[in-house]
Amino acid sequence: MKVLYLCTELYPFLKTGGLGDVSAGLPPALQALGCEVRLLMPAFPPLHQAAPVQQMVAPLPRAPTPWGAPPDLPSAHLVLAHLPGVAQPVYLLQAPVLFDRPGNPYLGPDGHDWRDNASRFAALSWAGALLGQGLDPQWTPDVLHGHDWHAGLMPAYVRAFVDAQQPTPATVFTVHNLAYQGIFPAALFPQLGLPPAMLDVHGVEYFGQLSFMKAALRYADRLTTVSPTYAQEIQQPAQGMGLDGLLCERAGVLTGILNGVDEQVWNPATDALLPTPFDAQTLDNKAVVKRALQERLGLAVRHNALVFGVVSRLTPQKGLHLLVPLLDELVQRGGQLALLGQGDEALEQALVDAALRHPGAVAVRMGYDEDTAHAVIAGADVLLMPSVFEPCGLTQLYGLRYGSLPLVHRVGGLADTVVDCTLENLDDDSATGFVFDAFTADALRHALGRAFALFRRPQAWRRVQQQAMAQRFDWATAAHHYLAVYRSATLSRPAQQPRLEEREPHVRRHRL
Ligand code: ADP
Ligand code: GLC
Repeated sequence: MKVLYLCTELYPFLKTGGLGDVSAGLPPALQALGCEVRLLMPAFPPLHQAAPVQQMVAPLPRAPTPWGAPPDLPSAHLVLAHLPGVAQPVYLLQAPVLFDRPGNPYLGPDGHDWRDNASRFAALSWAGALLGQGLDPQWTPDVLHGHDWHAGLMPAYVRAFVDAQQPTPATVFTVHNLAYQGIFPAALFPQLGLPPAMLDVHGVEYFGQLSFMKAALRYADRLTTVSPTYAQEIQQPAQGMGLDGLLCERAGVLTGILNGVDEQVWNPATDALLPTPFDAQTLDNKAVVKRALQERLGLAVRHNALVFGVVSRLTPQKGLHLLVPLLDELVQRGGQLALLGQGDEALEQALVDAALRHPGAVAVRMGYDEDTAHAVIAGADVLLMPSVFEPCGLTQLYGLRYGSLPLVHRVGGLADTVVDCTLENLDDDSATGFVFDAFTADALRHALGRAFALFRRPQAWRRVQQQAMAQRFDWATAAHHYLAVYRSATLSRPAQQPRLEEREPHVRRHRL
């Protein structure tokens, strides 16, 4: 099965969060199951620069579509590139006017969305749909798999081709975060090159505007999201972001599939960024890693201080505003905080203030840094993730792997992957961390208290660490589930006419 994977981030070249980790972990696991996977990404500078050899595939045609004008885009073409360390070939969408910009893929230097984001990401989806129509005569995918709103229009373009009686691949779309939807003024609709009928409440219209995410939820053959609990949560008003009605309608084709851990990058036994490796049998070595973290961040070097680690985007989603007022108490109880993050200015300031109040006990590093991320996740005793909502979460999975017990709010993927230290769970050795239910300061305070209490019982702590480290959330398991989704997507397609080149082998299907 040939799968085209449309995404905007790819670790280690370009990553703002877990999406980049997923694009690095899932395609190889699918390949191992026999899928032939290629990626399609905008030619952002870090990707373009990493691939010195790029083979021309085709320009994006500007001819009218069967339903009208094509998207109004600057000149663009596709190249096929091989990125170092990435086994799957990557189609890069070269359109310098759209993508040749430094920094964050979505935001300008002022921290606001790039003003032309609608065109930028419509171009990505359009290129994907055209590859499905034979734009690369050497390789036509059976499945187009888009990720998050940036690829949201892809299923809409494909549906337009279906409605125009063109043979097309099946479409699968994965929601990584429903909070980011790609919402644009309705006035932009004409430049997107979609059939006019799609500007409708049963199409891409969203409260008088356009939502790229809604386009995907409406038109993809199959939908997935990144945990079973989040798949349920987004069908309720509280987390449905105005799309819960549509998601309920499409519940029959929506699956929750947990993300995995890339063992090449996140494995304490082989992690070259640690001062010493460790595993469940050599947990004493974790003390060396903890000490190195304390030294690195300027925390007092005390082995009996309970070190709480945070590695996170600092956005309201991550719930860290609940932690700030509890920091004084956490320090009084002998705890320490090691935090690496970036984002919301007010939250950054509140954390810096706490660090100034508690030198040696609260250390914060603002910025994005892979090495420090490994140091914190590996060296902490507890990994804090009090997220308000969390589609899956990878950081807590890394925490489990490194015996850094996750302390999490019971939502989304956090609920699916961390087992609370209740007495029963301690008794039957299923506990792997600390889970609190209500999103309140009191509930978080109690969970912190339980972490302190368990830490005073080193043997029990060690058993929970070993149980945490024995968990396996691997990409192979996820890939099996995705493959089943791909199969059902291709089977679900209404019987298609033979592909055009099968009927008329000399005709290339992108002749629109
Ligand atoms: P999200 O995708 O919502 O940000 P995840 O837990 O799925 O949350 O993934 C976050 C990823 O980004 C993890 O790999 C984490 O280590 C990484 N990360 C988050 N913040 C930083 C940072 N400031 N520096 C380095 N890595 C970070
Ligand atoms: C999103 C979510 C996060 C998830 C990641 C990868 O960024 O916020 O929970 O782990 O995507 O799927």
